Amino acid sequence: MGDDYAAYLEERSARVVRLRSWIAAELGGADAVTLEFGCGHGHFLAGYAAERPEEWCVGLDLRTRRIRLAEAKARKRGLDRTRFVKAEAMEFLDALEGGPRVGRAFMLFPDPWPKKRHRKHRMLQAAFLARLADLAAPGACLHFRTDHAENFAWALEQVAEHPRWTLRPDAPWPHETGTYFQEVTGGRYQSFTAQASK
Ligand SMILES: C[S@@+](CC[C@H](N)C(=O)[O-])C[C@H]1O[C@@H](n2cnc3c(N)ncnc32)[C@H](O)[C@@H]1O
Repeated sequence: MGDDYAAYLEERSARVVRLRSWIAAELGGADAVTLEFGCGHGHFLAGYAAERPEEWCVGLDLRTRRIRLAEAKARKRGLDRTRFVKAEAMEFLDALEGGPRVGRAFMLFPDPWPKKRHRKHRMLQAAFLARLADLAAPGACLHFRTDHAENFAWALEQVAEHPRWTLRPDAPWPHETGTYFQEVTGGRYQSFTAQASK
């Protein structure tokens, strides 16, 4: 193992430890949580949570500024059970072990990483799906939406081939606040819902 990789693993595990403390402090009372991976400015999750004040919701994103803007939205709307946190998707899932279950998850307009050699950067991967299924509450669904046709087809294939997920073509889309990127696409996007099993 090279020094750089060892340093990366050490930093990653320190971030997971910090996130675990954050989860204990912020979500201590929650049995289940709704997650949005790559929440951007939090537009969608703030709209979703405003209609469900009883539900614990967490939006996570890599970009600090986007998280600050999302937090301001939650404060302004008095969303007591909604949190936004700067976190990488898999690191957050690792930190969630032993905490609340995932009751529902959204991934909306993720970065498409269109070049084949960059696909490894996509958030939705087989390992991500396996981890999310481990942490899912019974019946939990993942809702995915993108305007990028190839990314959509690829994500659909990952889910269709995954033994722990079942596509649910008839499931209603739970909430329709447009995200920032959804507004930019002018309505050309595709969605799917999949349900986790143990
Ligand atoms: C194209 S933007 C979409 C934002 C928002 N969902 C929307 O539709 O407006 C994708 C977002 O995913 C975040 N992101 C990318 N990779 C991520 C990862 N591995 N973990 C968490 N967030 C990630 C990016 O920082 C960015 O804000």
